[in-house]
Amino acid sequence: MIDTHKIDIAALAKSRYTTKAFDPAKAISAADIAQLKTLLQYSPSSVNSQPWHFFLAGSPQGKQTLAKATEKFSFNTEKILNASHVVVLCRRTDIDNNYLTELIEQEAADGRIPDDTVKNTIMGARQYFVGLHQNQLHDMESWMDKQVYLALGTLLLGAAARHIDACPIEGFDADILDEELALAEKGLHASVMVALGYRAEGDFNASLPKSRLPEAKIITEM
Ligand SMILES: Cc1cc2nc3c(=O)[nH]c(=O)nc-3n(C[C@H](O)[C@H](O)[C@H](O)COP(=O)(O)O)c2cc1C
Repeated sequence: MIDTHKIDIAALAKSRYTTKAFDPAKAISAADIAQLKTLLQYSPSSVNSQPWHFFLAGSPQGKQTLAKATEKFSFNTEKILNASHVVVLCRRTDIDNNYLTELIEQEAADGRIPDDTVKNTIMGARQYFVGLHQNQLHDMESWMDKQVYLALGTLLLGAAARHIDACPIEGFDADILDEELALAEKGLHASVMVALGYRAEGDFNASLPKSRLPEAKIITEM
C-alpha cells in the first residue's frame, strides 16, 4: 500500500469544475499524460470486463477530427480545439467468448490464475454476468456504458489531483465520431468525451460558485 498521505478528496471534489474555455497555449506534460493514461487503464469495471477503448487526441489534426462531431453542439467545438488533449471514451459494441478468453489470458499472464479450477470459476462468473445482461436484462450497451463512465469519473477526479482542468462532453454526435474513427468496424461506439488542459483566463465558469443539492437530501444514513 503506497502512502497517499490522505489526500483531501473532499477539497479536490469541490475545487474541480467543468472548464468552459481552455487556454490553447498550455499543454499537459508528457508525465501528466502518462498518469492520466494509467488512470484509464486501471479504472475498475464489473467482473474486470474492461469493455472499453480510449482515443487520446493531442495533435491539432486529431482534435479537428473529433470537433467534426460537434457541428450540432457548437458550444463544445472550441473546447475540443483549444484543449491540450481530448479523450474519447468508447464502449465495446458486444462481448463474445473470444474477448472473455483474452481477458482470462491477461489475468493468467498477470499472475492471477494459479490453476484451471480458478480459471474456470472466473470464466464462469464472467459468462454468467455477460449472459445475464445479454439474454435476460437486454441491457448490454447500457451495462458497458456504466463501466466506461466509471473511467470517466476516475479520470475527472484524477485530473483535478494533477491540477489539470477538464470538461466532460456528452454534447456531440456519436454517429459522426463512429464514422470518423471507423468505430463500428472496430467493435466500438463513442460513449463520452473529455477535454483536458488548462483554463483560459476568461473562463466564466471558474469563478462561479459550485452548486449541488444539499447533502441531507441526497444521502440517507442508516
Ligand atoms: C457525462 C457528462 C456530460 C457532460 N456534457 C457536457 C457538455 O457536453 N458540455 C459542457 O459544457 N458540459 C458538460 N458537462 C458538464 C456538466 O454540466 C457539469 O459537470 C455539471 O454542471 C456540474 O458542474 P461541475 O462539473 O463544474 O461541478 C457534462 C458532465 C457530465 C458528467
